[in-house]
Amino acid sequence: MSPGGTRAVRVEPAAAVRGDLAVPGDKSISHRALLLGAVADGESAFDGFGVSKDTLSTAAAVRALGAGVEVEGERVRVEGLGLRGLREPAGPLDCGNAGTLMRLLPGILAGQEGRFGLVGDESLSSRPMERVAEPLRAMGARVETTDGHAPLAVEGGALEPVRWELPVASAQVKSCVLLAGLYARSGPTVAVEPHPSRDHTERMLEAMGARMRRKPGEAAVWPAERLRPLSAAIPGDFSSAAPFVVAATLLAESELRLHGVGINPTRTGFLAVLERMGARIAHFNRRVEGGEPVADLEVESAELVATEVGPEEVPSLVDELPLFALAAGMARGESVVRGAAELRVKESDRVETVKDALKPLGIRIETRNDGFRVRGVPSRPKGGGVVDAAGDHRIAMLGAIAGLVSREGVELEGAETAAVSFPDFFAMLDILSVR
Ligand code: S3P
Repeated sequence: MSPGGTRAVRVEPAAAVRGDLAVPGDKSISHRALLLGAVADGESAFDGFGVSKDTLSTAAAVRALGAGVEVEGERVRVEGLGLRGLREPAGPLDCGNAGTLMRLLPGILAGQEGRFGLVGDESLSSRPMERVAEPLRAMGARVETTDGHAPLAVEGGALEPVRWELPVASAQVKSCVLLAGLYARSGPTVAVEPHPSRDHTERMLEAMGARMRRKPGEAAVWPAERLRPLSAAIPGDFSSAAPFVVAATLLAESELRLHGVGINPTRTGFLAVLERMGARIAHFNRRVEGGEPVADLEVESAELVATEVGPEEVPSLVDELPLFALAAGMARGESVVRGAAELRVKESDRVETVKDALKPLGIRIETRNDGFRVRGVPSRPKGGGVVDAAGDHRIAMLGAIAGLVSREGVELEGAETAAVSFPDFFAMLDILSVR
């Protein structure tokens, strides 16, 4: 540990990644399990809960609102208080680094009695929050932001249904609107997106008995009296599997099996992109768990060719675009990402932090307002430099995989931030790396 409390980790080059891995439970679904479980009628139980800094922020918030939450390993039990049963806590709810918590919870709070404060860490406090405040206000809730950012204050009230057209596809904003729609005076409340984003909220609401109507890019919900508690398994997080998929693809002689990974198509656009670049990824044992499609994946190394990612595809791989940049940096030809301005308002400005992270490797990213271009070189990048995670868990994991596939390795500053979504990431990387 350095004096600032950040941890520098040296990531040495590997020859291959080999073996079997089960990644932690999906972070998006784990947040939703806690939030929806808290307002269900009675006890919900989830297996495969993804324990991470982010999901523990949600567990703490839900407890502060009066719901019982017990986390035992990967099993979580939530004692729901009913749709309108949450209680005003003594102080503000600390969302930590978790954007999903800060953007989904106001949709539920808008239907409660009381006034609720939400705060976040420095990164979360710099992210745009008017995008959830506006639709909630249009429905009749009182929501205050601090110049468009956290801290937020939410005061519930009688809500009217709304048809909300999102200017940018966002599962967080869509979910916030749908959750508030459960409390509206009549229905339907409709969220319309320019391109479909992940649909975990819709799937879970349906499983809990809410009346929904769905078509691509549009979801509608009707007011509910109650939500049925749920017993379900949470699939492995594709976003946590993705760094290993990239490592196995880029390192010759790799052979990696990933067990029980969620393959919800609104979420796994990166698989399609890698496959058209030439990756070799086989799906086995396709099944449905807790209303979500799941499979085991087998990845073998492959040579990649460049590709283009356009706006319609971006929501389905938005969290994997940093890893795409690395894969593109080692693919033959020039790759382009367009329509991804959202990258600039993630846990860091991921257009800039991806560029900075890959620079010490010798991978040159040309940035645009809404994406980037990468001219690939199909051989190991040089490495040898220092990569800064920039306080962003996805950049920490990108830096680690970049070191692994490089010739000289990297020194990764701020490695501990990976724990925001994947506390055992480095241990897993160590076990699977062949040197
Ligand atoms: C998430 C939605 C996405 C994603 C985030 C998780 C979710 O954000 O980037 O990591 O769980 O709904 P946006 O809704 O801002 O695109």
